[in-house]
Amino acid sequence: MHPLDDPQTYLRLDPQGMADLVARFPAMGADAWEAALRLQPPPGPLSAVVILGMGGSGVGGDLLAALLRPVFPLPVAVIKDSRVPGFVGPQTLVFACSYSGNTEETVNAYKAAKQVGAPAVVITAGGLLRELAARGGDPVVQVPPGIPPRAALPYLFLPMVGALRHLLPRTDLLGEWAEAHAVLEDLGGQLGRDVPADRNAAKQLADRLVGRLPAVYAATSDLAPVAYRWKSQLNENGKVLALWHSFSELNHNESVGWEDRTLAQRVAVVLLREPEEEPELARRIAATREVSFSAAASVSEVIARGKGRLARLLSLVLFGDFVSVYVALLRGVDPTPVPPIDEIKRRLRG
Ligand code: F6R
Repeated sequence: MHPLDDPQTYLRLDPQGMADLVARFPAMGADAWEAALRLQPPPGPLSAVVILGMGGSGVGGDLLAALLRPVFPLPVAVIKDSRVPGFVGPQTLVFACSYSGNTEETVNAYKAAKQVGAPAVVITAGGLLRELAARGGDPVVQVPPGIPPRAALPYLFLPMVGALRHLLPRTDLLGEWAEAHAVLEDLGGQLGRDVPADRNAAKQLADRLVGRLPAVYAATSDLAPVAYRWKSQLNENGKVLALWHSFSELNHNESVGWEDRTLAQRVAVVLLREPEEEPELARRIAATREVSFSAAASVSEVIARGKGRLARLLSLVLFGDFVSVYVALLRGVDPTPVPPIDEIKRRLRG
C-alpha cells in the first residue's frame, strides 16, 4: 500500500491533524466569507491600501494584491517589515494581519501606521495587536484560535476581499466567491487523504518532489504569490528548501542558473498554469522547458481551476497545501511543528 493511503501514516506522523486542516480549507473559507460580509471598512476617501503581515499571515496580502491588481482603482502594497513606507497616511487603509497578534514586525508596523493617522482593520486571533486595536478603536476581525497561522489562510485573507467589495462595484465578488467555494470543495474531494494515490494528483506530485529541490514557477506574475505560498508551505510543512519564481521575469535571470546541470538534475519543477493562456506565453514556457529545464529531475504542471481570479488563485493554493503535507509525510516528518520559527522568535524576545 502507498504510505499516503495508509491511515497509520497519519496517526503516527500527523497527530495535530495538518492534513485535516488543509481539507477544511473550503469550510473555513465559507465561515470567513460570512464574517467578511459583515465588515465595514473605515469611511472616508482612500488613496492606497497597505497590508502588514509576516509569513503565513502575510501571504494573504500577496494574494489580495494579485487579485486586485487588474481591477482595483488604488495602489495596493504588502509590507513585510517593521516600518511603513513614506506614502502611508490618513488616506491609507491598513490591514494589520497577525495570527498570534504578537509578531514583532507587524505590531511595530501597525504602531507606525497609527502614528501617521492611517485607518486600520486588524485581523488576528488575539495578542498585543488585538489589545492595541481595542484601545485605539480599530475594527478587529477575530480569527478562531488554535490553528497554525499558515493553515488559517482563509480567515486571514478573505475578510480583506470582503471589506473592499464596495470599492469594486463592477466586480461580482459574491459570484467569484461562490464559484471559488464550489471549485475548492470539488478539489478537496479529489486530493484528500482518503483518495488513493493512483487517483490523487497531489499525492503523485508529492512522490515526484521528495528527495529533490522543488522549483515552483508561476506562469504569470498574477500567480506569483501562489508560487510563493507553495514554497513557504513546502518549507514549513514539508521541512524542505524550495525555489520559486514567475514568468516572464525568470527568463531574465533564473533560466541561466539551470546551466549548472549537476544541480539541475536534483531539481523538480512545478509549473503553475492558467487554463487558457496567450499563445505567446505557451510558446515562452515551451521554450524554457527545452532550453533550461531539459536536465531537471521532472517537470510537472498544475492548472488553475475555475473562471474567476479568486477560484484560480485559491485552487492552486489548496493543491499546493495538500502537496506540502504529503511531502512531509513521505519524508517521515510531522507537518505541524515549526521549531526554527519558534526558536528564533524566542531568542529575539530575549
Ligand atoms: C506558522 C506560520 C508562520 C507565522 C509567522 C508570523 O504557521 O505560518 O509563518 O505566520 O511567523 O506569525 P503570526 O502569523 O502569528 O503573525
